[in-house]
Amino acid sequence: MWEYTDKVMDHFLNPRNVGEIEHPDGVGEVGSLACGDALKLTFKLDQNHRIKDVKFKTFGCASAIASSSALTELIKGKTLEEAAMITNKEIAEFLGGLPEQKMHCSVMGREALEAAIENYRTGGKKKHELEGNVVCTCFGVTDKEIERVIRENDLTTVDQVTNYTKAGGGCGGCKGEIEKIIERVRGEKVTHEVLGPPAKGKKLTNIQKIQLVQQTIDEQIRPALRADGGDIELIDIEGNKVIVAFRGMCAGCRTAEFTLKDVVEAKLREFVTADIFVEEYKEP
Ligand code: FES
Repeated sequence: MWEYTDKVMDHFLNPRNVGEIEHPDGVGEVGSLACGDALKLTFKLDQNHRIKDVKFKTFGCASAIASSSALTELIKGKTLEEAAMITNKEIAEFLGGLPEQKMHCSVMGREALEAAIENYRTGGKKKHELEGNVVCTCFGVTDKEIERVIRENDLTTVDQVTNYTKAGGGCGGCKGEIEKIIERVRGEKVTHEVLGPPAKGKKLTNIQKIQLVQQTIDEQIRPALRADGGDIELIDIEGNKVIVAFRGMCAGCRTAEFTLKDVVEAKLREFVTADIFVEEYKEP
């Protein structure tokens, strides 16, 4: 028997927003019944391009139901740009935590949302597209997905990757490859930690600041924007002012100047320094 928090039990026994929206603006599907769980997410936007309604249908365990229910609660009222920033970690945290072996349920929720946003943006496939090369053929998990969960959740072992993605949980033939991916990502991390922020109270040098800003953009901000068809470019840093340009979908978004700028600023303040501010680059 798994140890579930009261909040997980509440969302499992009284799931919010169950069902399917008729004529939705976006539809996303992930997983398959053969793999043990599947999730379908549909949403509708209001006239301000915020998520007015969102519903899910899932075939899965208590934590899959609770994670899907939590996700719908988290994204209601948000713009798609804001919703795309939600990580599987935030879904788990909203529920007061999930058993480590069930973390893949929170990853599934985030992937369904990405697929639904992609479907809305492009009118394309509703099914989650696999990015990268398939590493685990038993569960259809790619190197890109594995790299992402390692980075976002700070994973260090093959067992953890299995808990978060299922990769490695079947025949086990992919475990060696997963180990190599962990080493690769952790290797990058070690380098980053050397470049990381100084202890509280110490001032960052200019070089440290530039490296940390770039690292934060690459690891904390860009993946979510790309999932939404956009991108971000670091243009310049002048003192505590960071100038960035939004590209792709983000550049055309009417709310980009207000919403994305604020999100980028919040991330940079969290990971670099509290007195940083962001300015959007305007083409001369
Ligand atoms: S190939 Fe990954 S568990 Fe079988």
